[in-house]
This record gives sequence, structure tokens and C-alpha cells, in this order.
Amino acid sequence: MEREKDLIERRVVLPLAEPERATRHGVRPPRAVCLFGPPGTGKTTFARGIASRLGWPFVEILPSRLADEGNLAAALRSAFARIAELERVLVFIDEVEEIAPVRSEPAQPGGMHGVTNELLKLIPGFRERDERLLVCATNSIRSLDPAFLRPGRFDYLIPIGTPDKAARAAIWSRYTDGRTDVDIDELVLASELFTPADIEHAARIAAQASFERDLVSVGGRGGDDPAPGASTADYLEAIAECRPTVTPAMIEQFASDITTHART
Ligand SMILES: Nc1ncnc2c1ncn2[C@@H]1O[C@H](COP(=O)(O)OP(=O)(O)O)[C@@H](O)[C@H]1O
Ligand SMILES: [Mg+2]
Repeated sequence: MEREKDLIERRVVLPLAEPERATRHGVRPPRAVCLFGPPGTGKTTFARGIASRLGWPFVEILPSRLADEGNLAAALRSAFARIAELERVLVFIDEVEEIAPVRSEPAQPGGMHGVTNELLKLIPGFRERDERLLVCATNSIRSLDPAFLRPGRFDYLIPIGTPDKAARAAIWSRYTDGRTDVDIDELVLASELFTPADIEHAARIAAQASFERDLVSVGGRGGDDPAPGASTADYLEAIAECRPTVTPAMIEQFASDITTHART
């Protein structure tokens, strides 16, 4: 997924890795970014990738876990207070639409109004210090509160879509271990609209089929197969069995979300 990787590298990783050099050019290193796109496209993977590129600890805030402490807004505040003590950190909040949904007027009892307000108040403080980045991820950017997403809070709103042909080829090669007997081009064509997660799942089904065939042949010379592993036919069969997570309607919605929300 070179396009996304390259964008994240240039806009996010490099200014944070080289803050002085960036500042000399008037580039303020980002403090908060939001990744949006259909499920399984690699948002969490990219967030972890940014932390590992920077060599920063990765801290995930799990609102469902914080909610166990009782008052979610207060728990969020104390989580950010603990995070403030870290020298450098990437903070990840997944499915952020659950804690920062569009605030309905008037506030609904038991709604997220207070939590969203708390998060809005916490972000400016978080942004003041160097060597930290908040990464939020969402499958549904249109359900997020518009105030939450405004430029003073989030520097970039980055779309993460389904992999193109080249990206699918790279992902398939990974799961087929570069075996030359597998026809990657055919798999790429058959897996249009597949997310990395879908490809992983299909690859697993194919591997399992190959494994089971090997077990069945144990009566004969099982285990001695000179070319073990799933074949192109196994992969194609697995692809046919899987329904891609992302539908054409979701692609259309994603395209319109990009037009409305993307900030890169
Ligand atoms: N670029 C990639 N190449 C290979 N596998 C990937 C890539 N991005 C994601 N994956 C795999 O796809 C699955 C879903 O990725 P994830 O980051 O959890 O998606 P999301 O957070 O958008 O739902 C994971 O198992 C991950 O390892
Ligand atoms: Mg995720």
C-alpha cells in the first residue's frame, strides 16, 4: 500500500523523526492524526508501524476498559495524565466514533456527550508537548463529531482504502512465502476489493486445505511431499469461498468520505 505508506512517512513519521529540521522549514510536526477507511484495511497496522518507525512506545486507550472504572470522562482524563508523564509516546484510540460521535442536541441521557467534551478538552494539552502523537482510527468518519475533527485538533485525516493490484500482489507474495509455483497475478485478479484482512483469511483457508490433504495422504507417503504448501488452485478456491468485507456500496461511501473529510 505504497500510496498510504508514503503519505504517512512524509507527513507524519519524518517530521516527528526530524523535528528540528522540519521546524527550520516551518513544518510543525503533527500531534494528532485520524486514519479512516473500511474495516480490515490496515489502520491499526499503520498506527503500530508509525510507533515502530519512530521507536516510540505504543499505548492503546481502550474506552471499553476505561468504562469499567465507572465514569468514562474521568477515566479518560486520568489516562491522559498518566500518558503526560511519558517522555515520548504514540497513543492509539481505535473505533474512536464510539467515544466521539456526533453530539445530538439536547444531550441524550447515558450518551457520550460528556465523554466527547472531555476528549475535546484533553487534546489541546496533549498537543502542547513534543515527542507525542495521538492516532485515532475509525471505520465511520461521517459519524464523528465535526468539532472533534477540526484542523486545530487533528493535523491530518488520512484515508486508508483497499489495496490496489500492486499492494495485493505484495500481500499475496507474503502469504505464499514467495513460492514460484503460485500464480500471484491470478490471485490478484481474483481478489479485487479484498482487504489485507480478507487476503489473510483466504490464505489461511488455502493453507488449511493443503495441510488436510497432506494428513489424508499419511497412509501413503504423507509428510514427504517435495513441494508442500497450497497451490494456485487452493488459493483460488479459498478466494471463491470468501466474501470480501468491503462491498461496492462501501467503496462508493468511502470515496464520498474522502471528498468530504480527507485532509492530507
Ligand atoms: N499492508 C499489509 N500487508 C499485509 N497484511 C496486512 C497489511 N495491513 C494489514 N494487514 C493485515 O490485515 C489484518 C487487518 O489489519 P488491521 O490493521 O487490523 O485493519 P484495520 O485496523 O483497518 O481494521 C491484520 O491481520 C494485518 O496483519
Ligand atoms: Mg483496527
